[in-house]
Amino acid sequence: MDPAFFLLHQDLLREGPGDRDTLDRALAPANLRPDAVICDAGCGPGGDVEGLLAHAPRGRVLAVDTHAPFIEQVRARFGGDPRVEARAESMADQQGPFDLIWCAGALYFLGVRDGLRTFRGSLVPDGLVAFSAPAWFVEEPSDTARAFWDGEDAAVFTRDTLLAEVRAAGFEPIVDFSLSDAAWESYFGPIDERIARLRPTADAALHAVLDMSEREAQGWRAVRKQTGYQQVLARRV
Ligand SMILES: C[S@@+](CC[C@H](N)C(=O)[O-])C[C@H]1O[C@@H](n2cnc3c(N)ncnc32)[C@H](O)[C@@H]1O
Repeated sequence: MDPAFFLLHQDLLREGPGDRDTLDRALAPANLRPDAVICDAGCGPGGDVEGLLAHAPRGRVLAVDTHAPFIEQVRARFGGDPRVEARAESMADQQGPFDLIWCAGALYFLGVRDGLRTFRGSLVPDGLVAFSAPAWFVEEPSDTARAFWDGEDAAVFTRDTLLAEVRAAGFEPIVDFSLSDAAWESYFGPIDERIARLRPTADAALHAVLDMSEREAQGWRAVRKQTGYQQVLARRV
C-alpha cells in the first residue's frame, strides 16, 4: 500500500460507508438463529463484526478480506473471541455453508450477479445474503453524479435493475433501502478528522492523498441525493 494512503487509513474502523443502524435495519427481518454461521465477506478492518455477533450471539463470524493488514486488525480486536475467525482469503473461495453472507461495499469487486451466484453456492438452502452496492436514486443522474464513480470500476444500478440482478442470481429480495447520510459520514467523518490531523505536517505525497480523499467526501456530499449505496437483504431460492 502507498505509504501516504496507509497513514490516512491506518486503524480506521471502516473502509466503506455503513454503520450499526444500517446493519440492524437490514438484519431485522432476517430472524437469524442465535447460533448462525456468518461470513463477513470483504470485511475490511472488521467494523461490522460486533454488530453481526449481536444478531447471532452464540454463532460464528468468519471475516475474510484479501488485504492481509485488515485481517491482522480483525485478529487484534477479536483474537480473544472464539466466535470470530479472520482469514486473508478471497470471498469468492469460501465453502460455508453459511446462514448469512454479509458483504458491505465489497460485492462490486466480483460483480453483483456473478458475486451473488458464487455466494449462493456457499449458503444453506434458505440462506441469506445482505450487501450494499452503488446505486442511482434518480432517473437521470447529473454528469457530476456520474463522475463520482469514475475510476471505481463498479457497475451502478437503479433500484429496479439491482433487484433484477439479485433475482437473476437466484435470490428473492426481502428488504432494501438506500444507505443513510449517517452511514456515509461514519466512513468520511473519521477520515476528515485524520486529514485535519495529518495536514499540518504533510509532505507533498501525503498532501496529494489528503486532497484526493477530501475531494471524494465533498463529491459524495454534493451528489448524495442522486447516488449512493443501496442495501439489500435477500433469501436464496
Ligand atoms: C470498500 S471496502 C469495505 C470494507 C468493509 N466491509 C467495511 O465496510 O468497512 C471493500 C473491501 O473488499 C475487499 N476485497 C476486495 N476484493 C475482495 C475479494 N475478492 N475477497 C475478499 N475481500 C475483497 C477489499 O480489500 C476491501 O477491504
